[in-house]
Amino acid sequence: MISTSSILDRPALVAWYHRNRARSRALFGMLADEAYYSQPIALRHPIVFYEGHLPAFSFNTLVKKGLGRPSIDAALERLFARGIDPDAERTLQTAEVRARWPTRDEVRAFAAEADRQVLDALASGDVERPGHPLLDRAEAVFCILEHEAMHQETLLYMWHRLPFEQKHRPTEYAPRVDGPVPAVECIAIPAGRATLGVDRESIPFGWDNERPAYAVDVPAFEIDRHDVTNARFLEFVAAGGYDDFRWWRPEDWRWIENERITHPLFWERAGDRWYWRGMFEQLPLPPSWPVYVSHAEAAAFARWRDARLPTEAEFQRAASGSAPSVVDFSSWDPEPAGSHPAGASAWGVEDLIGNGWEWTSTPFAPFPGFRAMASYPEYSADFFDGEHFVMKGASPATARELLRPTFRNWFRARYPYVYATFRCAR
Ligand SMILES: [Fe+2]
Repeated sequence: MISTSSILDRPALVAWYHRNRARSRALFGMLADEAYYSQPIALRHPIVFYEGHLPAFSFNTLVKKGLGRPSIDAALERLFARGIDPDAERTLQTAEVRARWPTRDEVRAFAAEADRQVLDALASGDVERPGHPLLDRAEAVFCILEHEAMHQETLLYMWHRLPFEQKHRPTEYAPRVDGPVPAVECIAIPAGRATLGVDRESIPFGWDNERPAYAVDVPAFEIDRHDVTNARFLEFVAAGGYDDFRWWRPEDWRWIENERITHPLFWERAGDRWYWRGMFEQLPLPPSWPVYVSHAEAAAFARWRDARLPTEAEFQRAASGSAPSVVDFSSWDPEPAGSHPAGASAWGVEDLIGNGWEWTSTPFAPFPGFRAMASYPEYSADFFDGEHFVMKGASPATARELLRPTFRNWFRARYPYVYATFRCAR
């Protein structure tokens, strides 16, 4: 079937690109100069990489590979596509990083030219070509737009780890910490069907890991109405949960022991009190906020409670009819669990889309019929290794353009930096 109708709304896509770039500028603009060559998370590149990477990825994917136009600066395009391989297990000193990477002016001059050419392509380039590996259904256009939006969340994970004095706090911002701790309540979901994947033709764009259409039957199960809060997780910590191997998978227990982990990364201890490391300040631990933890810690808590994490299919089933709550950069931190009941799903399960990604027990894997996408072939396929688990939903730092039911996120079980929470299923 030949479709003659275009899915390109050029003014909307140009506006989205401008929106993305403005937000990225604001995020980099939040930081003090001395943070620019620092590396707040050892497994990630220094911050300078990302300011170049965002426009470079867009330019490389859409303009160079998609439209076949010439380079701006081949060396920078290569550098910002992948970065400099970090020396194994070694965090560079800021001075070494500064010597290896371009100056900020060089990064910005490259970015300005990349932006100009990407915008020209979006406004008038031949970016939708049926049958073209990158431009069929304008795949590369959506790929670059979602890529930048997703990076903004991962940038915030990094910013979160920076010293407070290296971040400019928006003057009007105050975290919302008030709110009662919701009671633990379990909701029964009857057996039924869950839709996990979608056909390429059914939506303007989805990543390769969301395709093709895929639905499964889900047996009846029960799931918590609310995310596990800090107050609830504190019971696990106080009960010695981090000292008892029985709750942990062997590989997770090794991590707990080797790294001497005794509490969630977002928690800090001062004297005999617990605090939450917020984006801009340390707060007395807000009891009603969803706890942010790694998959390893979430799974251990669930086992301790004689429960388990929901599967991806159970999440999908529980979430049907949900409306977003606490998403799209509306807050720099979470809000009390259960403070947006209007967003509850058809079953009454709250905050499934927002206020923190939700860990599932499902290893990240392709749906039957998966094909890697040409515009970004390594996006998903590099992570089908059994070490990554699917997260669903959204966090306060997830752009609204990414909020679609089939969107999947994934991280390693022991990566503790993400805005991810969980709830128990049975
Ligand atoms: Fe990227």
